[in-house]
Amino acid sequence: MLAEEQRISMADRLRADFPALHQSVNGRPLVYLDSAASAQQPSCVIDTVAEYARHDHANVHRGVHTLSHRATDAYEGARDKLAGFINANSRREVVFTSGTTEAINLVAQSFLRPKAGPGDKILITHMEHHANIVPWQLVCEQTGAELIVAPMDDSGTLDTDALYALLDERVLLVGVVHVSNALGTINPVEDIIREAHAREIPVLVDGAQGVPHKAIDVQALDCEFYAFSGHKMFGPTGTGVLYAKEALLDAMPPYQGGGDMILEVSFDKTVYNELPYKFEAGTPNISGFVGLGAAVDYLLGVGLETVSELEKDLLEYMTARLSELDGIRLIGTADNKASVQSFILGDIHSHDLGTILDHQGVAIRTGHHCAMPVMQFFDVPGTARASLALYNNRDDVDRLVSALTVAQEMFA
Ligand code: ALA
Repeated sequence: MLAEEQRISMADRLRADFPALHQSVNGRPLVYLDSAASAQQPSCVIDTVAEYARHDHANVHRGVHTLSHRATDAYEGARDKLAGFINANSRREVVFTSGTTEAINLVAQSFLRPKAGPGDKILITHMEHHANIVPWQLVCEQTGAELIVAPMDDSGTLDTDALYALLDERVLLVGVVHVSNALGTINPVEDIIREAHAREIPVLVDGAQGVPHKAIDVQALDCEFYAFSGHKMFGPTGTGVLYAKEALLDAMPPYQGGGDMILEVSFDKTVYNELPYKFEAGTPNISGFVGLGAAVDYLLGVGLETVSELEKDLLEYMTARLSELDGIRLIGTADNKASVQSFILGDIHSHDLGTILDHQGVAIRTGHHCAMPVMQFFDVPGTARASLALYNNRDDVDRLVSALTVAQEMFA
């Protein structure tokens, strides 16, 4: 456990690693509170991608020449790092995708669609991101299966008893978000996986907001699928991972056809490549994954325990400071939360609030956060959302609160 002074100096040291944070926006030093949408990248990620492009770039898995070998080593090296990062049993279980969205669509179309039919059910929760709703709705339209939804309460806490009561022999899969992007709720995925497995139901965890904030061990979780994105964990955009148990991937048909996912092709028949390449058609985002490998090194260097501790402390500070404001309504007040706070300030529309804050150099996200059912539940068109990462500090929160005070004065 770090003392308060250690926490403050650690956050300041980490902040120095992120060049984008050291600039002025609209004449004020930038305060970046939108990491749940896309986190900033440390210099080591930016430099690794640039070095790769300067010296090593070529296509992977295909060339006999030196640059192609270097590119392949860097790309596959990143896979090893990611396998270690989530403690996968094997690198064959780490499928590279363009992000969480593609990872979930892959599972929906390749794993679930062939099994689903009328009367079958797919169980999700009320706090899912659209990426963990719409792919299942597509399967329902394609097969006649039904999407069912476990409820949450007014604090944004999942009603797990209600979820367990919905688990029956017609449920083909549970899809649950690890950390809600709109509410910050950390769901008890360990318990949900155990209860689902007691009924032999596989579980997909949407970990897009999980990986940047806490250590993930997919073997300990024992989930069938864990999906996440590189750009939320300080890596490049257009990178993501589908972790899946090897036996499931083996049994699943390819998601897309094309180069690299085959061993042999004739007009009569195609023999698919081994795992994970069977699911990686076409030239991948090579430089992006090389950069993501550097992001893994960075996060492990800081330590996920330290990240969780820094963010927990700062979230408590931010919640307390926001609560001081007249007319604020905090949305998402579960006991177990990651560093995200949604709110409404009086009658001010969230987009107006976002614009006024931007004029003061404070970046937050506004709107429905790709989680419209959450907004419908709270009966609001959208919220303002401040999300923290390891590089934020108390000054950032103070700047947020004073910018909100300015907005209140403008609307008074
Ligand atoms: N899903 C991302 C967010 O929460 C974009 O902002």
